[in-house]
Amino acid sequence: MSFSKEFDGKVALVTGGSSGIGKAAALAFAQAGAKVVIASRGVEEGEQAVHEICARGSDAIFVKTDVSQANEVEALVNKTVDTYGRLDCAFNNAGVGVLRPLINYSEDDWDYVMNINLKGVWLCMKYQIKQMLRQDSGAIVNNSSLAGVVGMANISVYTASKGGVIAMTKATAIEYAKSGIRINVISPGFIETPIFEKVPTERVDQFLEGLSLPPMGRFADSDEVSGAVLFLSLGRSSFITGQNLIIDGGYTAQ
Ligand SMILES: NC(=O)c1ccc[n+]([C@@H]2O[C@H](COP(=O)([O-])OP(=O)(O)OC[C@H]3O[C@@H](n4cnc5c(N)ncnc54)[C@H](O)[C@@H]3O)[C@@H](O)[C@H]2O)c1
Repeated sequence: MSFSKEFDGKVALVTGGSSGIGKAAALAFAQAGAKVVIASRGVEEGEQAVHEICARGSDAIFVKTDVSQANEVEALVNKTVDTYGRLDCAFNNAGVGVLRPLINYSEDDWDYVMNINLKGVWLCMKYQIKQMLRQDSGAIVNNSSLAGVVGMANISVYTASKGGVIAMTKATAIEYAKSGIRINVISPGFIETPIFEKVPTERVDQFLEGLSLPPMGRFADSDEVSGAVLFLSLGRSSFITGQNLIIDGGYTAQ
């Protein structure tokens, strides 16, 4: 999907924009003309992503942010507005996984996953919407997962966090539907990214072996998610809000 320069003059914020799905979306926003703010915990990765965007002639900054910390998220939105004057699009993508049988999850695992995946999305929307209300416009896309839609073994706490993102997206979309702010969520199936190299896990091999290919017969790469994110961030999707767009190669159509 080509977005040419449809994001000229727009400012896009991508959390977790230093790696995987978020980095692909950040590059796509920049290629389509947006000024991009990349937020993540990893400084080196984040600066590298900004370097790649600037090397292609676009404009981007990196803001080191832990999305589970309210003061850091507030500072992130403030830095975005101080630098570029506004915030048009936000892709709340930062997330982590922990793979274990339910009975082996610890309270620390629960807090870690929920604080980043669910509380983090709430905090991001809280400060983004405050700014978007000042502008009477904005589009937010949250990143859930196919695991927030269907059951999968050995990933129950992650699925709970992602199911929460879908529910919170719908409720918030209704709340701000008359304010010029659209809020949607995407639910990607298995996408080849570094996430599985990072997750604390007891059962990653079993988890991956247990994943069946979707009807399209393959898993996806991050660029195949970006098109959906940009579409939902644009005026082209002006009557779409509160929706969960599942990007799964036909998995849930079965
Ligand atoms: N890869 C998949 O198969 C898949 C499928 C569905 C959904 N997702 C979701 O997509 C999102 C991106 O995952 P990915 O596969 O690209 O993984 P990734 O590990 O490549 O990227 C995760 C990003 O989130 C950032 N991050 C992690 N914790 C953070 C925090 N506390 N504050 C700020 N940034 C933080 C990391 O720095 C990194 O930039 C996640 O929310 C994940 O749950 C991934």
